[in-house]
Amino acid sequence: MTKRLWIETVGCQMNVLDSELVVAALRRQGWELATGSGEADAVFYNTCSVRQHAEDKIYSALGRIRFEKEKRPDLVVGVLGCMAQKDQELIRKRAPWVDLVVGPGQLHQVPTLVEGVLAGGGPRLEVSLDRKGASRDAIARSFESYDPDRDPAMRPTPFQAFIRTQTGCDKFCAFCVVPHVRGPEQARAPETIVAEARKLVAEGCREITLIGQTVNSYKWSDGGRTTRLADLLALLDAVEGLDRIKFVTNYPRDMTDDLIAAVRDLPKVCQYLHVPAQHGSDVVLSRMKRGYTIGEYMEMLGRIRTALPEAAVTSDFIVGFCGETDAEFQTSLDLVKSADFKNSFIFKYSPRPGTKAYDRLPDDVPEDVKKERNRLLLDAQEEVSLAGNRRFIGTRHQVLVEGLSTRDERRAVDPGPDGIAQLTGRTMCDRIVVFDAPTRLVGRLVDIDILAAAAWSLAGVVADGLADAEPLDSLRLSGESAEPVELHDISLPISFAEAPRV
Ligand code: SAH
Ligand code: F3S
Repeated sequence: MTKRLWIETVGCQMNVLDSELVVAALRRQGWELATGSGEADAVFYNTCSVRQHAEDKIYSALGRIRFEKEKRPDLVVGVLGCMAQKDQELIRKRAPWVDLVVGPGQLHQVPTLVEGVLAGGGPRLEVSLDRKGASRDAIARSFESYDPDRDPAMRPTPFQAFIRTQTGCDKFCAFCVVPHVRGPEQARAPETIVAEARKLVAEGCREITLIGQTVNSYKWSDGGRTTRLADLLALLDAVEGLDRIKFVTNYPRDMTDDLIAAVRDLPKVCQYLHVPAQHGSDVVLSRMKRGYTIGEYMEMLGRIRTALPEAAVTSDFIVGFCGETDAEFQTSLDLVKSADFKNSFIFKYSPRPGTKAYDRLPDDVPEDVKKERNRLLLDAQEEVSLAGNRRFIGTRHQVLVEGLSTRDERRAVDPGPDGIAQLTGRTMCDRIVVFDAPTRLVGRLVDIDILAAAAWSLAGVVADGLADAEPLDSLRLSGESAEPVELHDISLPISFAEAPRV
């Protein structure tokens, strides 16, 4: 009988891609997606360890699935991804009903492991080597890049896809667990990446987002030739049928002039650069071991603004990092007020075992202070974002239509193949735009005249009267304007079957 899988994903785009690939691999073995955990033969959690909060969510989900497992002992419960690598045996100590613990460098083993558990082989733990205590080569080999064949039906939308440029990270920022759980930085060959893009385009994909922890550190050397991100972008820009290329996340020190020039000169590359600053103070940046000063960050930002005056730049900030004083926090606030970021993702510092900050610096900023600083920084960013978005009113922008807006998703609107609904899409500079239009436009590039702006989204009408709907409803933006969550902290109970189809 066909087996059914339910998978829940938290964390970054890397996890969304990993889940897509795991599901695709199991589908090739005859598995189908379940419509809920209650009717699944296997329930997987693809996990994140970047902050404690993400881990807590998984432990409480594991608490809930325990009852299902008690009712149906054959149910396979799996913990995949970063928490599996970080906590290893601890997961089964806290939740002995878990059958599979599989780190991000071992995902290729999932199909065999599930079959083993179903055949009565007992629980399995498969993780990569720890970053301390073995040679770099041995550790790198133990993190296998997981890039099997794609399955277009398994993406949130068929016309957008992530492509991994590299796995892991070697920067070791003092607060960050990623280098520990995702292993050493290892690039994929440019030919492989381009071949994957071609295949995706042949399957109907129009936009690809290159993903790497520090995507702009990408470097591939082969027979005396070195390919960097700028070169890779040029190769991808030449792929016929592809409309848009994005890349995240950038590391400030690796934002070279050739990369900025590539974004300026290659027509398919989106004018959108996510380059996290993390903090506004040199002293804190040095405690964070980020490897640059605010002066250097501003110099880099200046080069972007000169070459790409239209580009949207976004950032991440951590508030309440070890020892952060009021005066130090003020520098982050000043940076947000002056840098004109399109938006910033703001996080309260969460100490992560295994990191330098955890070992050496006390987590001494009280929770309520962290909360207050988070709010202040978000409020400041909201003001900047709103002012930035208001500059768009009265302009025309090409939008890739992604699907129903969250408002209409909430209402479960089903207007039928030619019906009008509130749709959402993004400009080349990654701004979210909502507008009323026929759902058949999903997956297409459409010109939109912008008529209204909120902090995190714009609203408009299809240019040249393509849509015959009254646009007024789209202009009420208040309900749309939650804080930005699209880049990190994705929490996705995957039922891709419901994704909009072109
Ligand atoms: N380079 C990665 C970074 C992953 S972590 C990327 O692809 O974005 C994402 C963001 O989480 C970081 O930029 C940082 O702002 C935040 N972060 C990382 N570790 C954290 C911690 N211990 N506490 C709070 N926020 C953290
Ligand atoms: Fe983390 Fe710093 Fe790498 S934030 S992912 S260690 S660049």
